[in-house]
Amino acid sequence: MAYGEEAKIGQWSLDKLAFLERYLPAYLRATKSALHKYYIDGFAGRGEWVNKRTGQKVAGSAAIALQYAQQFTHLFFVEFDEERAEHLRELIRIHNASHKATVFVGDCNLLLSEVVKRIHPSAPSFVFLDPSSDWIVNSKSDNFFKGFLAILNRRHIA
Ligand SMILES: C[S@@+](CC[C@H](N)C(=O)[O-])C[C@H]1O[C@@H](n2cnc3c(N)ncnc32)[C@H](O)[C@@H]1O
Repeated sequence: MAYGEEAKIGQWSLDKLAFLERYLPAYLRATKSALHKYYIDGFAGRGEWVNKRTGQKVAGSAAIALQYAQQFTHLFFVEFDEERAEHLRELIRIHNASHKATVFVGDCNLLLSEVVKRIHPSAPSFVFLDPSSDWIVNSKSDNFFKGFLAILNRRHIA
């Protein structure tokens, strides 16, 4: 089953999101003096989920990051699934952050390399890589880890 089938998530994901919610403001405090800073989400999902147990709405990683859109120079979201990407675009509109955020649709192994081209190499960048098990299926084997390496090296890998 794909991650977040019917947009429902369980405790493991809720714990992960709680961690991000606490960590991101601390990161922004720590990088307060940087002129530019970026948020990069390699497996951005759909921005909003439903708690499998309670049925309540839950902010996904993209929605959490967008709360801080004004403090980032730019936010980049990569998502394989077009329908989820459309949710992300809508979320960006709701946050009035169209000038601040870009959604890339496709395999992050290829697209993270494109993201790297758009960020200043020495600017602090918060990179959230949160793959689901289908990421291997969605990537061509030649490209495995290319995106991760591009992020680590901060350069485009052809
Ligand atoms: C674990 S979920 C992301 C959850 C999201 N980070 C959150 O916390 O709200 C992983 C996402 O990666 C997407 N995905 C799977 N393979 C991918 C790939 N090769 N490149 C980009 N996105 C991929 C899936 O469609 C899914 O939405």
